[in-house]
Amino acid sequence: MTRFRWRIESPEAMAALGDAFGRHVRGGEVFRLHGNLGAGKTQWVKGLGQGLGVPEVINSPSFALIKPHQGRLALHHVDFYRLTNPRECEDLALEDLIAPDAVMAIEWAERDPNFHGWDAIDLSFEFGEEDHVRHVAIECRVLSHDNLTHEVIEEAGFIQGVTAL
Ligand SMILES: Nc1ncnc2c1ncn2[C@@H]1O[C@H](COP(=O)(O)OP(=O)(O)O)[C@@H](O)[C@H]1O
Ligand SMILES: [Mg+2]
Repeated sequence: MTRFRWRIESPEAMAALGDAFGRHVRGGEVFRLHGNLGAGKTQWVKGLGQGLGVPEVINSPSFALIKPHQGRLALHHVDFYRLTNPRECEDLALEDLIAPDAVMAIEWAERDPNFHGWDAIDLSFEFGEEDHVRHVAIECRVLSHDNLTHEVIEEAGFIQGVTAL
């Protein structure tokens, strides 16, 4: 398993990080996003959508638990912030939406009781020491996810604040 952490100094840089993932994902990836309200999860997904070529601007799914988008690949944006009953997760049957031509990003993923069941990429968002700073840690357990992360790290100049953990 490999772990890295980025220091992200603006909302735009957070979207740029997501964008880089959007351009490099192969399809089939599930991103589980962890972190408190305002930590930047949705901002990252906005960028993921841009990188995938989703035409509309991505916002929080608000009252729906899941919102579908279509770019180069399908993007299933899931947000369990308003989950009241874990059985709602079963009804969504998210496993059925994991496909080679789709990626999934799940905010508040730890609220899903099946949380441990997937071979997912975990991203943890934390507040930094200043208002405009966030830290994003990534954990990859599979070689292909590791390769993806390295492509993202190598690509962009804004990702200078990356540390191997
Ligand atoms: N470095 C940063 N990265 C991401 N968001 C930031 C950053 N600095 C400030 N922000 C602000 O923090 C908020 C993040 O909100 P959001 O992405 O919706 O969080 P979450 O989905 O984790 O609840 C936005 O208002 C954004 O403008
Ligand atoms: Mg959010």
